[in-house]
Amino acid sequence: MRSVFLTQPYLLSLNPSSEMNVVWILREPLQSVVEYGSTEKLGNSIAAQCFEIQGLCLPASEEGYGNFPEDNTPVTVWQCIAKIDGLAPGEQVYYRCKVEDEYTPVYHFHTAPEPGDPYRFVQVSDLQCLPACDEAMHAIGSQNPDFILYSGDMVRSSWRADQWFDLQEPWQDADQVKRAFFPCMQQEDVRLMQYAPTFFCPGNHELNDMRYGEDKSFSVIDKNWNWSIFMQLFRPLYPDTDTTSTGRRWYSADYGDMHIVSLSINRWARWGAHDYPGWRLFDSIAPGSPQIQWLEQDLQEAKTKFKWVIQHFHILNRGKDVQDYLCQPQIGPDGEITYPDDHGGQLMDLFEKYGVNAVSFGHSHVYERYFTKGCHYIEAARITDVCYRGADTRPHISGILPLVEDNSKRSFLVLERKEGGIFATAFYGEGERQVFDQYQIADENGRSVGPQVDKV
Ligand SMILES: [Fe+2]
Repeated sequence: MRSVFLTQPYLLSLNPSSEMNVVWILREPLQSVVEYGSTEKLGNSIAAQCFEIQGLCLPASEEGYGNFPEDNTPVTVWQCIAKIDGLAPGEQVYYRCKVEDEYTPVYHFHTAPEPGDPYRFVQVSDLQCLPACDEAMHAIGSQNPDFILYSGDMVRSSWRADQWFDLQEPWQDADQVKRAFFPCMQQEDVRLMQYAPTFFCPGNHELNDMRYGEDKSFSVIDKNWNWSIFMQLFRPLYPDTDTTSTGRRWYSADYGDMHIVSLSINRWARWGAHDYPGWRLFDSIAPGSPQIQWLEQDLQEAKTKFKWVIQHFHILNRGKDVQDYLCQPQIGPDGEITYPDDHGGQLMDLFEKYGVNAVSFGHSHVYERYFTKGCHYIEAARITDVCYRGADTRPHISGILPLVEDNSKRSFLVLERKEGGIFATAFYGEGERQVFDQYQIADENGRSVGPQVDKV
């Protein structure tokens, strides 16, 4: 018999030292509870709130999915959320979910520790149901992260139910199921989303409909820009119910002595930056935009020793996708291209001003890291395939070259807060899984550690 559960429980929290949202997805709107306690005997129980998730589709026929959402059959799934609160820092909690007579296994999590205590986290992005993403996440989960940073691009087409869930349908083949987002991020024998709260930011694939970057006439209509599926699935991180271009898709949370900021930055399109209608950058990072106003105040008020920012789109990168500054370029009468408002550069100045230690991107599926203006800029997204230009040695358009880049094999990045500061270790994700890059992000006083790299 098919299970009513479409996912195992996953953990989301904006206050991870005192509360945790246990979230799971069902096929039907059924009464549901989370049972929890300080031992495997559990003992407490909270009823879950149930929300309808709209926007997902099943194929309209046996021939499979049509190209666009409207060519397919809408399907409603149901999200349960139970918030366990009143917890102490570092508290261990065992839990399971119950729906009628079905139970999940008992899982456990702990809240974020007191400032100064150790923790371990991983940087993930761009799984997108790509080959070997399940193998990569198994290796990453084997590293026992306390939390996960996910810098965007979860699936390829957000509206396709089969890219998120094991639907237990005969047309969904076994290899595809393994690479769907939740089966991949919830493998049973390693520590992933059932155990470690995950902090997401949206990437270009988190828009409901990819035509915003493929079809110019679609892109210019503002109401076609909508992130509702992503924002519903990760609702506790995105309490704003406005899922359109005017909504809020950024937040921050403190984990131990680290302030985590999640931004929404995407400008992907299949046409040149100066072709009509240009690259529309959502959400805006222009000075004075709602996101930047919020960011400046948030960084100003942050009291923690360390600060880490996740965003999907890169400021510095040598991947083959885009190379321009993070702004809207202008083309002059003589054909010369200029970059009048380098919003990426302005963002870097803000990160420097407020002592951000590291910014981690996704999108180009490369392993690169830079250190400039007192901050590490990292893309550790060579988790599956790679979008790299090969032997091209040009720097980023800003003139800044990476300190380290290695796209020879799949890889992943593990970070540790331990005595002395924050330390990064990059492993190859295939073969012997050797360490190929090891460095310090910040010292015990919260200062970033790295060589100052000047323009070449
Ligand atoms: Fe992307």
